[in-house]
Amino acid sequence: MRDPIDFVQIGRIGVRIGASMGSTTLLVCGRSWIILARRRESIMSERVIIKEVAARDGLQAQPKHLTVEQRIALLGALAQTGVPELEIGSFVSPKAVPQMAGTDEIAANLPPASVAYSALVPNMKGYELAVRAGITSHAIALAATEQMNQNNIRKGLEDTFVMGEEILDRAAAEGVAIHVYLATAFECPYEGAVAEALVLEQVERLMQHQPARLVIADTIGAANPAAVQSMMTQLVDRYGPDHLGCHFHDTRAMGLANVYAALLAGVRQFDSSAGGLGGCPFAPGAKGNVATEDVVMLCESMGYETGVDMPKLLDAVALLSEMIGAPQGGRAHTWLAKQCA
Ligand code: COA
Ligand code: ZN
Repeated sequence: MRDPIDFVQIGRIGVRIGASMGSTTLLVCGRSWIILARRRESIMSERVIIKEVAARDGLQAQPKHLTVEQRIALLGALAQTGVPELEIGSFVSPKAVPQMAGTDEIAANLPPASVAYSALVPNMKGYELAVRAGITSHAIALAATEQMNQNNIRKGLEDTFVMGEEILDRAAAEGVAIHVYLATAFECPYEGAVAEALVLEQVERLMQHQPARLVIADTIGAANPAAVQSMMTQLVDRYGPDHLGCHFHDTRAMGLANVYAALLAGVRQFDSSAGGLGGCPFAPGAKGNVATEDVVMLCESMGYETGVDMPKLLDAVALLSEMIGAPQGGRAHTWLAKQCA
């Protein structure tokens, strides 16, 4: 765990530099003290890592179920975009989520590409199935509330966390990377607003088991930028940005604003979905993820590097639209399409 505090000591006292301190500052206090605040950004990467989740979060709630062949073709198009991480599907009960049936076949036929493939697993059985299929980077989703866990994986809150800890400990011993999602981290569709203090406590508990990444997930798109900035600033200060990520849905048109707020807090790893496709079958009201093309546009226009090729991404969105049978696209779709024409 990185020391979360920018801390420089010259003289007899040290100084904690707050998250909002964005530039190099030299202060002379009286005659004895010189306090130097390092430019916070200088210790953070200017690359933003995008995990493309259309082939899992995007497809899992669609009324139209794509075939395994279509899903492989979609992954091929997404892998071409240069996105560094790609979620291929989930190893869940086909009775619970029929859209994700056949993820093992997909894992056996992944397009060769320099991209990190991962899959969602809901429990230990899913973990074992994914490992058997050759996947060594998994997402596990633990919700912050009792009812969301009951509805999503048919387990209570405490049992879900104990299971998450068991998966994390086993994965550490077996060399499998786990991205832990703390779902409904701002609001639960069954229990309403979720207290920030509760989420911070839950993160602390999970961080003891050293996940490769802990992702704060706004499952139903109910967060706002002030809440995101407050939570993520505290988390980045405590744990550093390397093992943190955010996952936003755009239900109330605040997805991109929430990405911006998290960027300001120092977060550099985001989930997004090509075309803004998405939803959760067990979270009523959840709409699509924030669109990858919008996140890429936001980040690149602010000077961050994503490595994503926009024309290729728009090609993948076009393929997705054709497969789903309805036009997909983020908020800037028309404008982006004109730029890339
Ligand atoms: N993959 C495939 N099958 C699984 C499985 C997995 N990860 N986990 C359990 N099963 C099977 C069991 O083998 C058993 O099969 P059987 O009826 O042929 O004997 C059956 O599912 C029931 O097992 P049980 O452990 O009682 O599971 P459950 O009925 O309580 O369901 C989950 C639990 C987690 C499997 C189910 O709720 C699920 O898949 N949820 C998906 C959640 C999700 O993807 N949400 C969206 C993303 S966050
Ligand atoms: Zn989601």
